Amino acid sequence: MNADEMKRQAAQAAIEYLPEGGIIGVGTGSTVNHFIDAFADVKGRFDGAVSSSEASTERMKKLGIPVLDLNATGGLEVYVDGADESNRQLHLIKGGGGALTREKIVAAASKKFVCIADESKLVDVLGKFPLPVEVIPMARSYVARELVKLGGSPVWRENFVTDNGNLILDVHDLEIMEPVKLETQINQLAGVVTVGIFAHRPADVLILGTPEGPKVVKP
Ligand code: 5RP
Repeated sequence: MNADEMKRQAAQAAIEYLPEGGIIGVGTGSTVNHFIDAFADVKGRFDGAVSSSEASTERMKKLGIPVLDLNATGGLEVYVDGADESNRQLHLIKGGGGALTREKIVAAASKKFVCIADESKLVDVLGKFPLPVEVIPMARSYVARELVKLGGSPVWRENFVTDNGNLILDVHDLEIMEPVKLETQINQLAGVVTVGIFAHRPADVLILGTPEGPKVVKP
């Protein structure tokens, strides 16, 4: 079974975790695209979705799913999103698609975070996947130098601008033994908008697509 089929399977399984109705938080990425397609089949039960990116907004609108403003909806019951890596505590690396800031906002505003991924995303230690950091453009070089002091090798994601008009540094060569601590340290650097470590607010449930079917991991 290929990775895309495992993603599709995990996304389909996430439908079981949705409440009876209300508004759902929706993440970004190829796994979430499968979720959006599955969500479209049951959209009649729901008032709509809060989106974490322009890309997800566009896909949902095309499928007739109303997209609502988080400022108007208040808190959400459930947020469904993918990840680039997860450890067994369900601390995540996210932001491969560059949507990390809005993803972190919607995750923070949601009671339950259901993470969906193929089995390759589960790791013992975070950091093999380059850690995305969204930065204000004028802070790019400064933040890069500070990230080197923290042991990383930052690479500017060229020709990419986030939905918020900012830049991404992808930090290689990190072995993230203390995700909560590193999330705090990087977020405190002047010019950092968001780091793609989701440890202060980890996922609550991880649904992994595997050749044997979806597997649920809880911290
Ligand atoms: C986007 C993300 C995605 O959730 C992450 O990159 C996983 O993507 P995919 O489902 O395509 O593997 O954080 O910013």
